[in-house]
Amino acid sequence: MSAVVLNGKDLADRMKEEMKSRVEALKKKGVNPGLAVVLVGDNPASQIYVRMKKKDCEEVGIISYEYLRDKTISENELLELVQELNDDDRIHGILVQLPLPEHISELKILEKIDPDKDADGFNPINMGRLLTGADSMLPCTPAGVMELIKLAGVEIKGRNCVVVGRSNIVGKPAAVLLLREHGTVTICHSRTADLGEVTKRADILVAAVGRANMITADMVKPGAVVIDVGMNRLEGNKVVGDVDYDGVAEVASAITPVPRGVGPMTRAMLLMNTLKAAER
Ligand code: GUN
Repeated sequence: MSAVVLNGKDLADRMKEEMKSRVEALKKKGVNPGLAVVLVGDNPASQIYVRMKKKDCEEVGIISYEYLRDKTISENELLELVQELNDDDRIHGILVQLPLPEHISELKILEKIDPDKDADGFNPINMGRLLTGADSMLPCTPAGVMELIKLAGVEIKGRNCVVVGRSNIVGKPAAVLLLREHGTVTICHSRTADLGEVTKRADILVAAVGRANMITADMVKPGAVVIDVGMNRLEGNKVVGDVDYDGVAEVASAITPVPRGVGPMTRAMLLMNTLKAAER
């Protein structure tokens, strides 16, 4: 079998086109959707992410407000900045780029973000809303994963879904979203015994571990839908996922590539969270 490629870049582009007209409609009503991006310090990867987010905003007409702060900023000063953004009516979405310097508690900062402006969906209030099934700002990567599964056209209800990885940002919320769609969900992690035996039961397999090429063809059920959240940089700068793409594509019925898979969808969902907040 040769898998259908679930092209996240194309799907994200289609979503952006749709968002553009929704932004236009809002502007006609006098609402200019705005996203505040806070970057502390000079982490090169974070700088690249922030630059890409700004470009995405420009593409769909969302105004991005950048707040660059030195790595010596105190926790209190950062909390004050977040409070100002909470109170600023021009701003509908707030994103504080992680990681933060060690002297600042990420949890405290994330808790401070107004849950209704929490474009990343990382505030524990939104995590709780997600768990209970209430309306919430969804974390962007898991939300993007769900859109890609929809693109594959498979029903989640009653299927075996295996998530490899248990982070707060991806693994846990992805598992909850699959459960909400009536999947039978298993979460695996570094201490799971016989990982391959578990992943082989998956009709839908989500890999979010951060280890290059660790999911190999022998760990995948023939016909499975495989979603690869990994972005691992190899020597020589090549970026690969957590899934051994060439091998697994021979076994799976559908697979996301890296790059052009989950990554562009994560970025599109950030815009969608901001747009929805502005529409509310
Ligand atoms: N750092 C790496 N990825 C992310 C993300 O999606 N959101 C934030 N806020 N920080 C990140």
